[in-house]
Amino acid sequence: MVAHPVLLGLLQLVSCLVIFLTAQAESPKYYPFRTLEEQDCFYEWKSKQLRENIQKHGEWINFHKKGTCPGMKQNQLYFRYKGIQEMQTLSLVKSDNSYIGSYNEGIYDVIRSFTLEGKRYRAGGYIIKLVDITSERGKMFASCEPHALEQVGIWHRTGILTNDRGVEFGAILMKRELGEELGQKSVWRRAGKKKKLQILNLVKEENRNQLHRYAFKTPTNVDHILHADNNPGNLPIQFSQVPPLGLEVKMAMIDWGHPGLWTWYGEPKAIDDPQFTDWHEQQFSLDYALEYYDAGDSSVVDRFWASDEGAPYARKRSIGPA
Ligand SMILES: Nc1ncnc2c1ncn2[C@@H]1O[C@H](COP(=O)(O)OP(=O)(O)O)[C@@H](O)[C@H]1O
Ligand SMILES: [Mg+2]
Repeated sequence: MVAHPVLLGLLQLVSCLVIFLTAQAESPKYYPFRTLEEQDCFYEWKSKQLRENIQKHGEWINFHKKGTCPGMKQNQLYFRYKGIQEMQTLSLVKSDNSYIGSYNEGIYDVIRSFTLEGKRYRAGGYIIKLVDITSERGKMFASCEPHALEQVGIWHRTGILTNDRGVEFGAILMKRELGEELGQKSVWRRAGKKKKLQILNLVKEENRNQLHRYAFKTPTNVDHILHADNNPGNLPIQFSQVPPLGLEVKMAMIDWGHPGLWTWYGEPKAIDDPQFTDWHEQQFSLDYALEYYDAGDSSVVDRFWASDEGAPYARKRSIGPA
C-alpha cells in the first residue's frame, strides 16, 4: 500500500514537532544568549570579573602571578612512579563525563577493585584523572592539582601511565564523587522561580561551608588552599528531602587544578568574616549567573549587557539596560 502524500507530510510534521519538543525539554531554559559568540563573550567577561574579585581582596588572598600556582614544577615529586604496575593494569573505562579539558586528558572509571600499598580501593568508588605532563605547560602546572589535594587532605595516589603509543600521562587517583551539577538536577528543573532562589541559597551556603572547611579545617593544611573555580561543573550536588526541614544539599568539590587555585595570607578566617563572605558572594553570583537568571534574577547578566564587552550585543538586540 502506498501512503497518501498528505498523510506522509502530516507524519513528518508530527515527528518534527516531537523532536522540537524533546529538544526544548532537554536544553537548559536559562540561556539568555542567542549565539555562541555572545555566550563566549559572557564567559570571558565572567573570568575577568572573577579575577578582579580576587585582586580586590589582595590583602588576604595571595593572587598568584599569571603563570604560577601553588605546588608548581613538582612533577618529579608527584608523578615519579613510572608505569606503576598496579595502576597500569587497572581496568580503566572512559567515564561518561570524560572530556578533554585544559590539563585534563580524560576521566576514567576504575572498574576492578585493587590494593595499593595495603589500602583497598573498591571498584566504582574511584576515578583516575589523566593530566598532561609532557607539554611545557604540563611540566609547569600538572603538579598543582595533587599538591592541592594533598594540602586539603584528600590526596590518594598519583603515578605515570603510558598509553599504547608510549605517551606518558600523569595519573591522579581520586575518590569518585557522586552527584551532578545543579542545572541537571530534576529538583532544580522542576522548581519554580521562587523555589529556585531558595535552592540557590542552600547551594551557596554549602559552597561557602566547603570552601571554608577545606581552607582551614584540615590538619595537613600548609598552604591554605582556596578553591576559586567554583563553576557548577566542579560542584556535583545531591539533594535529599528531609522532613521537617525540607530540602538538604550535599556537595563535593572537584577539579583542584591550575589555574583555579589560590592561597591565603595570614590567620585562618572565621566563616562569617565579612572579607571572606564578601569575596564568596561575588564569586558565587558570577559562577551561578545563569542559574540566577533562570530563577528570575538577571542582575549579573544585566551587568554583562551593560559592560563594554556586552553592550555591542545588547544594542544589536535592543535589550538590557544599555
Ligand atoms: N573526583 C571526581 N568524581 C566524580 N567525577 C569527577 C571527578 N573528577 C572529575 N570528574 C568528572 O569529570 C569532569 C571533568 O573533570 P575536572 O576535574 O573538572 O576537569 P576540567 O579541568 O577539564 O574541568 C567533571 O566535570 C566531572 O564530571
Ligand atoms: Mg572542571
